[in-house]
Amino acid sequence: MHENKWMKPDHVHQYLERAGTIPHRTEGEAVLVEHLPPQAGRVLDLGTGNGRLAAIVLDARPRCDVVAVDFSPAMLDSARERFAADARVEVAEHDLDDSLPAAWGRFDAVVSSFAIHHVSDVRKAALYAEVATHLHAGGAFLNLEHVSSPTEALHREFMQAMGSTTEDPSNHLASVDDNLEWMREAGLVDVDCAWKWRELALLVGRSPQA
Ligand SMILES: C[S@@+](CC[C@H](N)C(=O)[O-])C[C@H]1O[C@@H](n2cnc3c(N)ncnc32)[C@H](O)[C@@H]1O
Repeated sequence: MHENKWMKPDHVHQYLERAGTIPHRTEGEAVLVEHLPPQAGRVLDLGTGNGRLAAIVLDARPRCDVVAVDFSPAMLDSARERFAADARVEVAEHDLDDSLPAAWGRFDAVVSSFAIHHVSDVRKAALYAEVATHLHAGGAFLNLEHVSSPTEALHREFMQAMGSTTEDPSNHLASVDDNLEWMREAGLVDVDCAWKWRELALLVGRSPQA
């Protein structure tokens, strides 16, 4: 089993302190919002952290309900605190290494930011297939993701741009192409990389119309 640091409160707090400073992330988030279905009524946020992306979705689609899931106790506490007075949001504990429960039903959009790269490539492909079965026809999968660089030199430049000097053992970075292929294999259509800055990419796809 690989190391996943997100169960450690220190790791969570260090991330939350700098989460707003990640270069260009607001651009990716803005493009993600553009891809939300106009009438989205129900949205699932995978690896919600403190609920940053769920809050952005709710700003854009105030009438929708969000199921926001994570497995880290410190992150779940933070998300529950953020949405304590918001009846539109259900914060739930879920490990992305486990199958998405059928009981959650279907969603108009499944979104995620910088979370799915913490599971193995085999699990990413399986998760995308599960996401596809949890989307209504025409629903969108919008994954703002940390992807791998095509070369070691580009990876070093990314690390420098991020101000990072050490590799995070929790990361299992896959290429844009591999991610898009797994999304197509999951049965999603109109699959594309809708935005990218270095190792940060917005990967989008839709459930086919009935
Ligand atoms: C980089 S943070 C991103 C949080 C938030 N989505 C954001 O954009 O700020 C990664 C998140 O993925 C969650 N995560 C990592 N591995 C997970 C797993 N196996 N199951 C559920 N959540 C996981 C972490 O707890 C953390 O909240």
